[in-house]
Amino acid sequence: MAISRVPIYALLLLLLVFSATAEEETGDVAEESAVLTLDSSNFNEVISKHPFIVVEFYAPWCGHCQRLAPEYEKAASILASNDPPVVLAKVDANEEKNRELASKYDVSGFPTLKIIKNQGASVQEYKGPREAEGIVEYLKKQVGPASIEIKTADEAAKLTEGKKVFIVGIFPEYSGNEYDTFMSVADKLRSDYDFAHTLDAKLLPRGDTTTKGPLVRLLKPFDELFVDIKDFTAEALETFIETEGMPSVAIFDSDPSNHPYLLKFFNKENTKAMLFLNFSSNKFEAFKSNIDEAAKQFKGKDVSFLMGDIEASQGAFQYFGLKEDQVPLIVLQQHDGDKYLNPNLEPDQILPWLKDYKEGKLKAYKKSEAIPEVNDEPVKVVVADNIHDFVLNSGKNVLLEFYAPWCGHCKKLAPILEEAAVTLKNEEDVVIAKMDATANDVPKEFEVTGYPTIYFSSASGKLVQYEGDRTAEAIIDYIKKNKDSPATADSSSPEPTKDEL
Ligand SMILES: *[C@@H]1O[C@H](CO)[C@@H](O)[C@H](O)[C@H]1NC(C)=O
Repeated sequence: MAISRVPIYALLLLLLVFSATAEEETGDVAEESAVLTLDSSNFNEVISKHPFIVVEFYAPWCGHCQRLAPEYEKAASILASNDPPVVLAKVDANEEKNRELASKYDVSGFPTLKIIKNQGASVQEYKGPREAEGIVEYLKKQVGPASIEIKTADEAAKLTEGKKVFIVGIFPEYSGNEYDTFMSVADKLRSDYDFAHTLDAKLLPRGDTTTKGPLVRLLKPFDELFVDIKDFTAEALETFIETEGMPSVAIFDSDPSNHPYLLKFFNKENTKAMLFLNFSSNKFEAFKSNIDEAAKQFKGKDVSFLMGDIEASQGAFQYFGLKEDQVPLIVLQQHDGDKYLNPNLEPDQILPWLKDYKEGKLKAYKKSEAIPEVNDEPVKVVVADNIHDFVLNSGKNVLLEFYAPWCGHCKKLAPILEEAAVTLKNEEDVVIAKMDATANDVPKEFEVTGYPTIYFSSASGKLVQYEGDRTAEAIIDYIKKNKDSPATADSSSPEPTKDEL
């Protein structure tokens, strides 16, 4: 299922972002926690008491949560004396009684942090840093005014320095519909962007300095550096900010100032065209100008572009099943998961290749290990290139485990599957198999969001996820009860299927 891909992308990014801080020392933990512990019994009451509260949904087993805990604690104790108050709280989303709460707040990964304002009337995702100082700074800004007034050129210079997107409303006076709309959009998008307003366009570093507004100017450190808009409907403003606030080509390298744009790039549910090369290559400029041109031609067509440095993209290479000797390459992934690859390409091949893609002339590719030549262990090895023949259309009853090499539960399961396979080895129509889901693309028929995931594909083609106990007896029992025979030619026939032909 396509939706399940988003968290994997996020994971990839987290790997990138967190690898830098993984070694940091943990801070002192206060004896009495400054972080409030919430659960389903006191949640509403606490939320209604605090106009600005941050809630972390965590799971005790989650490593990122454990790493965040001391930083969160430290931030909470600093923020306790802030004016206006900022309260930090946590919910163990792993506990049965809190599950409903977590689902109400769309918690799909750990940790998830939500900023809850005005007794729950406004809920925003926390998108700030994960160490104490950064958390404090970010939240102080969130609890303050949504937009800052610019009164001097110095203030404007200070606000717009660095590699950030900055959105400034220019108004003849601080009132009226346009001003109100700007402020409400600023409040809505404040966790993603920085907003300011001014009466004097001359103070700003870029753009027409004689305008009196009302006008919104987006200043950015990439592409054309600033863009103006005079359409003051909330929807138009939001779309403008979301579109113009992203570089036309996201850059995937080790520079942390690019990471917020990468997160947006990967979280967007659209088609992604990703060019990977060695940024030190002497063809860099030629590639850059071609991918920039492609982005221009595809603007507004629901395709996002990225240019990644091979030095920083190991995680992405693994995820997409790419090899370094295929670089420079372009890989395109549709939202439905289909992928297209052009390895070892030259800069001037980008545009013609994208044209072929648009015209439907390309063939999708999938990541697969080689089909094993010998496959005589009790538990058979399945890869992406033979899963259809081996499992789905095999006319046999196949129990298939999707595993990851690093997954502990999978290692525990391995001897159990082997025992079941050995026990059932004389049943010709039963196969127990496994596929490394990190080295092979999982076909759309299966939904794999965690490891191990076990499916049972019956001989007649029924496909269900196995949710039973992970013991050999339970698995054997399940297979014996659920196995059937291949369907006859007319598979929609309601008649019972025949036995051996
Ligand atoms: C990238 O290119 C530079 C310069 O040619 C080279 O030193 C470096 O090893 C290359 N990196 C990779 C990962 O190939």
